[in-house]
Amino acid sequence: MIRDQETINQLIDTIGRFVRERLIPAEEQVASEDAIPEDILQEMKDMGLFGLSIPEEYGGLGLTMEEEALIAFEIGHTSPAFRSIFGTNNGIGSQGVLIDGTDEQKQQYVPKMATGELIGSFCLTEPDVGSDAASLRTTAIRDGDHYVLNGTKRYITNGPEAGVFTVMARTNPENKGAGGISAFLVDGDTPGIHRGKPDKKMGQQGAHTCDIIFEDCRVPAQNMIGGPEKEGQGFKTAMKVLDRGRLHISAVCVGVAERLIDDALRYAMDRKQFGKPIAEHELIQAMLADSKAEAYAARCMVMDAARRKDAEENVSMLASCAKLYCAEMVGRVADRAVQIHGGAGYINEYAVERFYRDVRLFRIYEGTTQIQQIVVARNMIREAQ
Ligand code: CAA
Repeated sequence: MIRDQETINQLIDTIGRFVRERLIPAEEQVASEDAIPEDILQEMKDMGLFGLSIPEEYGGLGLTMEEEALIAFEIGHTSPAFRSIFGTNNGIGSQGVLIDGTDEQKQQYVPKMATGELIGSFCLTEPDVGSDAASLRTTAIRDGDHYVLNGTKRYITNGPEAGVFTVMARTNPENKGAGGISAFLVDGDTPGIHRGKPDKKMGQQGAHTCDIIFEDCRVPAQNMIGGPEKEGQGFKTAMKVLDRGRLHISAVCVGVAERLIDDALRYAMDRKQFGKPIAEHELIQAMLADSKAEAYAARCMVMDAARRKDAEENVSMLASCAKLYCAEMVGRVADRAVQIHGGAGYINEYAVERFYRDVRLFRIYEGTTQIQQIVVARNMIREAQ
């Protein structure tokens, strides 16, 4: 749903200009230094990028899902690492409290996330628990008016920077499944939290992940998302957060694909072989056209699912359809972009080499392609029963 066409057009223009004039020129620096420059971070805060999806009453821009998707298309035109630093505040780091939190919890945490003063992070994955999230082992055992957390969370995006974590932990060790899990808001400076070294990743340098280790970490019972009476609801909170996150990542994949198509097209029009630009060779044209058609299909898919979400339809299955298609699509587009660049595509002088590594993550995080297939198929069967 677009609330005001002129306002969203202005925001798209502003962010598009920021991407072209500030972020794209800084891509190589961010990749080589594995850090986003402070001045760019400040500009992101000033533009409200940390609070895009956060409701206006908590100081955010309150974008609808359709509006957020349009902005994610623009942001996708540059390195995914830029999006990552404000991505968790708009998505998995804030949505748990926004969807299922109490008013007090929202008041306490969300306004600071909207400004970027506080970075929110999402702790679901563990060393032995990835796709089978319901079997997580981190425990939260009640002790008076606190819960005591023990366990390790892995690959936590913005873990090094986070000031608050949404942590899924088992409050009922007797229940080994989803129903034994509760979600907590845990302040980053709580005694008993240790951060591992930042992971050395294949791509997306500038975006950081690390282990978060909880050792007898005492968290007030009122920090359970929704309050202590919501014990056992944490897995569902996590799933609802991921439904939204998967749609957002799908939109980012579309933006990245469009960037790669631009880069590949420009290179193909410039590079000459057999006496003419390679863009005039039909086998190159086939790669360009396939990429264009697939990115267009993905864009339409994201827009449809986003509009349905705004209309309050259950989009769990559609979000997984989009994540599965868009993540695989951008992988194919990145592969063709490298192929069109030929030997130059394998050299880090051209952005396609970096993007080829960056996009590999989209097929893995916020649920692998195989998990999306499972979600889609299960929903199909349920609907047919
Ligand atoms: N919304 C609300 N409730 C939901 C739901 C949804 N989308 N999906 C499931 N549930 C509910 C079910 O209705 C069920 O409730 P009842 O017990 O009351 O019936 C309960 O949750 C358990 O559901 P399932 O039986 O379907 O659970 P499952 O164990 O079979 O697992 C799964 C389902 C889809 C495989 C799930 O485990 C999953 O999504 N796994 C992937 C995890 C994932 O995406 N990890 C990514 C981590 S975050 C990240 O990557 C970001 C980063 O920073 C790196």
